[in-house]
Amino acid sequence: MTKKKTFKRFLVTSALPYANGPIHIGHLSGAYLPADIYVRYLRLKGKDVKFICGSDEHGVPITIRARQEGISPQELVDRYHFLNKETFERIGISFDIYHRTSDPLHHKTAQDFFLRLYEKGLLIEQETEQYYDPEAQMFLADRYIIGTCPKCGYEKAYGDQCEKCGTALSPDELVNPRSALTGATPIKRKSKHWYFPLDKHEDWLKKWILEEHANDWKPNVIGQCKSWLEQGLKPRAVTRDLDWGVPVPLPEAKGKVLYVWFEAPIGYISATKALAQQEGFDWKLYWQDKETAIIHFIGKDNIVFHCIIFPAMLKAHGDFILPENVPANEFMNLEGDKISTSRNWAIWVHEYLQDFPDEQDLLRYVLTRNMPELKDSEFTWKDFQTKVNTELVGNLGNFIYRTLTLIHRYFEGIVPSEPRNFIYEWIAASKTAVEESIETFRFREALWSVMELAQKGNQLLSEEEPWKTFKENPDQAKQTLTDAIQTVVALNILMQPFMPFTAEKLRKTINLSNLSWNILEQKPLIPQGHKINAPKPLFRKITDEEIERQIKKLKGGMTTQNTTSQKSEQQLAEKPLIEYDDFSKLDLRVAKVISAEKHPNADRLLVLKISLGTEERTIVAGIAQHYSPEELIGKNIVVVANLKPRKLRGIESQGMLLAAHDDGKVILLTTDKEASPGARVL
Ligand code: 2FM
Ligand code: ZN
Repeated sequence: MTKKKTFKRFLVTSALPYANGPIHIGHLSGAYLPADIYVRYLRLKGKDVKFICGSDEHGVPITIRARQEGISPQELVDRYHFLNKETFERIGISFDIYHRTSDPLHHKTAQDFFLRLYEKGLLIEQETEQYYDPEAQMFLADRYIIGTCPKCGYEKAYGDQCEKCGTALSPDELVNPRSALTGATPIKRKSKHWYFPLDKHEDWLKKWILEEHANDWKPNVIGQCKSWLEQGLKPRAVTRDLDWGVPVPLPEAKGKVLYVWFEAPIGYISATKALAQQEGFDWKLYWQDKETAIIHFIGKDNIVFHCIIFPAMLKAHGDFILPENVPANEFMNLEGDKISTSRNWAIWVHEYLQDFPDEQDLLRYVLTRNMPELKDSEFTWKDFQTKVNTELVGNLGNFIYRTLTLIHRYFEGIVPSEPRNFIYEWIAASKTAVEESIETFRFREALWSVMELAQKGNQLLSEEEPWKTFKENPDQAKQTLTDAIQTVVALNILMQPFMPFTAEKLRKTINLSNLSWNILEQKPLIPQGHKINAPKPLFRKITDEEIERQIKKLKGGMTTQNTTSQKSEQQLAEKPLIEYDDFSKLDLRVAKVISAEKHPNADRLLVLKISLGTEERTIVAGIAQHYSPEELIGKNIVVVANLKPRKLRGIESQGMLLAAHDDGKVILLTTDKEASPGARVL
């Protein structure tokens, strides 16, 4: 066996989620929960560790979604940044920082990185022809060109692939190509871009991944890397023509931004810098010192970026160390189908937290038991119920509750004696098993070792029956319950990385001041005479009705894209406090709707003519699914009158109306009594 490497410090990252949607259980079990378990474990062992994450706020899909909603990209990412940050906190993902890539510190860090490569002469400049939407006035990624598939005739094939027959396409091959944004026919325009020559890195990457890390990286990760490396690497464009992102820091690159997959991983570095500023440490130690282990937790769709492209960028830059491991997970399916945001086939974590308040650990437990570590896995509500009821309630909770209750009943809550030696052997074996599994990223196995210790405890109670021996042989009951409470304390320590909320409750009941990992080696773990508080059950059974409700909600929410989660998203996405001055910048006015009609190019939009008393304006609003044009005419509404005009699908909107968004419904704000058009709203 090769000697295990030891490190002075750890930098652990979880993939930066795009801030254009909420977090679902697939995200959680893929990149956040495993990282959190790992980090909590390291902290318990007293290691120096920083846990880094944040929102990935750039990229074309964000601009498209914002355009569809008629809001700015910044407004969109603000909504999800705050929602996701809060959701992670509530489910116990213990990041040291949750940063964001729209932060100026990130822009500067990413630009400096680019300039370093540029100044070293490592980037290739090239002019190519690209598709351009003359109406939206923007270049189009292949995905945003649709047309008829030349192979099967499907009319909505994408410029990179036909989803019907699976053929890989280029936009040139589409019959009747059109822009997915406006329907306009795309034209070709020349544009200059900068390329990173990934091909030049092939040799060392092969050696580094396929030889040096053949045994310590997960087989699913090595497998994917191998296939990329065998296909041969090609130069990759690191800039894009787009107005949302990190501007390319060159005078000749106006209107261009860094490609999101170039700058997003640099976001890990920016976030570390931001944390270093807050806490006062040297960020370079975590990125440039060989005694640091950098570990990236990600989902399988991110493997090439974290194992091949980002390491090549770091190497080219010259100052950085490479990641020590990239324990990527596969995907988690839901009730027999792929999780899909667009079809609303997902369990949104913020909704789970609403439906199961204070029961974060049930989800953490079941997701860890089913973690897609080596292959895709499956979540079903029925299985959630079974695992909670039989494993958490029936095994772990039952053992702990019985032990604490019996100690209360017979010994007034006082640890009655000293344990037998075999208890120490049990605990030592569990400790080793959990450590080995966690350190090799086998979290399912680690959790199972914890549950096996609880099973042993239950067996001990069933075999020795202290409730019987207490009458004839109280010393025996004393012994059994002393052994059992030592096991409970060991479980309390071991469960922490997986179920931190339950562990904390139990810690308070047992009345322990500290649960650090080294107490597992202490003899005894809890001394004779220690007083325990009155116990409460740690878990409760999940009823059939609850499960039926969840299944119904899932099926009912399907395909009604984003409506189920909208209510809670909006309620949760609280914005930070602002000054009165910020509020007073808004010019809110009463307006009367003079006419209304459907938008010619968008089903969701209506075009309103409104009167502000002294002038008339056009407003484009995304309310077509909630109001017919007829019912709006004559209504007094409230508008933001000083919003910069913005084109929505080709028509300029000169303001924005206000509406409440409530559980998928949109309700216009009107005035309580007749008010003159143009009246101020304060
Ligand atoms: O796949 C995703 O959700 C990306 N936003 C992950 C980015 S990870 C890192 F590179 F920032
Ligand atoms: Zn096709």
